[in-house]
Amino acid sequence: TSVKVLVCGGAGYIGSHMVRALSRSGHEAVTFDNLVTGHREAVGDSAFILGDLLNTHEIEAAFASHGPFDAVIHLSALSLVGESVADPCRYYLNNVTGTLNLLGTMKAAGVTRLVFSSTAAVFGHPRADLIDEDHPTAPINPYGSSKLMVERILADAAVAYGLRSVSLRYFNAAGASPEGDIGESHQPETHLVPNVLRSAMAGDSRLKVFGADYATRDGTCVRDYVHVDDLAAAHLQSLAFLDKNPGAHAFNLGNGQGFSVLEVIEAAQRVTGKTIARDMVDRRPGDPAVLVASSARARAQLGWSPVYTRIDDIIETAWRWHTQQRY
Ligand code: UFG
Repeated sequence: TSVKVLVCGGAGYIGSHMVRALSRSGHEAVTFDNLVTGHREAVGDSAFILGDLLNTHEIEAAFASHGPFDAVIHLSALSLVGESVADPCRYYLNNVTGTLNLLGTMKAAGVTRLVFSSTAAVFGHPRADLIDEDHPTAPINPYGSSKLMVERILADAAVAYGLRSVSLRYFNAAGASPEGDIGESHQPETHLVPNVLRSAMAGDSRLKVFGADYATRDGTCVRDYVHVDDLAAAHLQSLAFLDKNPGAHAFNLGNGQGFSVLEVIEAAQRVTGKTIARDMVDRRPGDPAVLVASSARARAQLGWSPVYTRIDDIIETAWRWHTQQRY
């Protein structure tokens, strides 16, 4: 059945793919975004409200003018680890207070289903090769802490108010819509795949490889890259899951396979046919050597099955976007 969903952060990288997935599945999406990191162009002609979760009047007005909503998908956040270390209060205010404002408005409006964007950063330094949902949460930066705080708030809200929620801990989101018209566009860009592709495009921008002395197969960090459309699909499945399951739930979303920085570069060279100039530089503070998800629980309980399992296919969609980047 068709549902009407408020997508907070719908103009962002993952949010814009979410909005498209909702409308392709016959649902109605209304985006609420402050455009601090999002892009108006990313949501096209779908319903858009300019507003900030830190302004309760704006969020209440969105519910009054565009509701009633069957559910909320909440992807509004500041998400740069380094920035969060430099300015933690800005991160806690935006990510935690913003969410509290949203929850208050949802409660007043009687909306009882939420899918929340969480992160692998809630785990901190991994203590296992494959990180499942039973792995201890011990974030090592304010960004990860802010997301874990919200997960705890959601657990309490489930008990106290009957709020049903799914927190999805994304590992490394990558790729773009295969149409190539929406994709990742951050300023500054810190993520590996777009930086690799930028180096493939412009001969003069050399990629920095942060650390070649990790205890991994080639010395560079290993990450679990998951396609943004596969992430969007997990949100749709989470909405269906919440129909039958009260409570607060969390799932790890990754491909279950790790690729090193050098392997990503090699894949990008295959896909683009270009040489990617790179310099080996010092480690970036706060980077764990290996982060790979076990998504067995998402597969079993949500019925999630990522379509993009090959790194080359993920990078190919990102390349299509980068060669015709519109915003
Ligand atoms: N890297 C480079 N050069 C670059 C960019 C990245 O070598 O120009 C390396 C990083 O050091 C890291 C890997 O590529 O080893 C991936 O880096 P990203 O910045 O793309 O992604 P992260 O794994 O650092 O970040 C992800 C999520 C965050 C989350 C974090 C948890 O994007 O939201 O995992 O550790 F907080």
